[in-house]
Amino acid sequence: MERVEIFKTNVRDQQEADLVTNLLLINLAGSRINFDLTDREKILRIENLNVPTEKITALLEGAGFFCKLIPDRVCDALEESVQHMHDFWESGFVNNQMMWGAAPTNSAKRANHIFLQGGVRDVLIPGFGYGRNASVFLNSGMRITGIEISETAIKIAEQHFNAEVRIIHGSVTDMPFDENLYEGIFCYGLLYLLNGEQRKKMVADCYNQLKPGGTMIFSVIAKKSHNYGKGREVAKDTFEIGKGGQLFFYDAAAVEGEFEAYGLRSYVEIAEPGSASSHVPAFTFFFVECRKD
Ligand SMILES: C[S@@+](CC[C@H](N)C(=O)[O-])C[C@H]1O[C@@H](n2cnc3c(N)ncnc32)[C@H](O)[C@@H]1O
Repeated sequence: MERVEIFKTNVRDQQEADLVTNLLLINLAGSRINFDLTDREKILRIENLNVPTEKITALLEGAGFFCKLIPDRVCDALEESVQHMHDFWESGFVNNQMMWGAAPTNSAKRANHIFLQGGVRDVLIPGFGYGRNASVFLNSGMRITGIEISETAIKIAEQHFNAEVRIIHGSVTDMPFDENLYEGIFCYGLLYLLNGEQRKKMVADCYNQLKPGGTMIFSVIAKKSHNYGKGREVAKDTFEIGKGGQLFFYDAAAVEGEFEAYGLRSYVEIAEPGSASSHVPAFTFFFVECRKD
């Protein structure tokens, strides 16, 4: 899959742009390179299988130009970013199948108690995966609807569940998929994979699909987690773990900022083991509970 990287420069005119383009082509054969000199930031755009951003910056600086990577623009095109998300997760499930084991997360067990107390009978699970969290709710007699972007994850899920679970194949960025209102929504480990605009839309879409009196629960990775800061920072507190895979890390201010308009009741830290078999220390999540009055 081709990568696209975008840089701010101080290239002034076409002559300088041609000079820089030739310099880059000598060093990065096969790249598609163009400038937008009408943009205030004199944008340099480079497309190739691999775009070594530090080398590019060093080449331009060595030639006497200013050059700075613009990380956010990598994710600008929504459709492109959804396709990358799909490819990232689809290949993850093709290669690793039930990569986190079969046991439900601590968050799912905690959510189950809350749902039982609230008399929840039907639950929407966006980012269903292969369904490791579904059984805890099914065993409590709840009906389940999932939304999942990876067809392989859905196939794995279908081997374990019968008609008791309905799984919609699609991206949460395209919610809503139906007009149902749910008494419970449980979303573990998906919201923080989205960019800021997508997160905002998803929280609002979930709230809109909640019945009055219903509860929605999100488990999101916390800045305190040991994996914070690993990988390339592509936006504030957002680190890339592969093309189409990025994690936004929450602190208290981010939780309050994103959920307070959507019935935020409480949020607590919760430890979640990396996988049943690995020695990776537990990740720190925020367990966020919202209620619609
Ligand atoms: C970190 S995993 C968690 C999976 C599941 N909730 C669990 O705990 O086992 C994130 C899940 O969200 C799915 N996903 C990622 N982006 C998505 C999107 N835009 N729409 C729907 N599902 C998505 C992935 O395929 C993956 O199954």
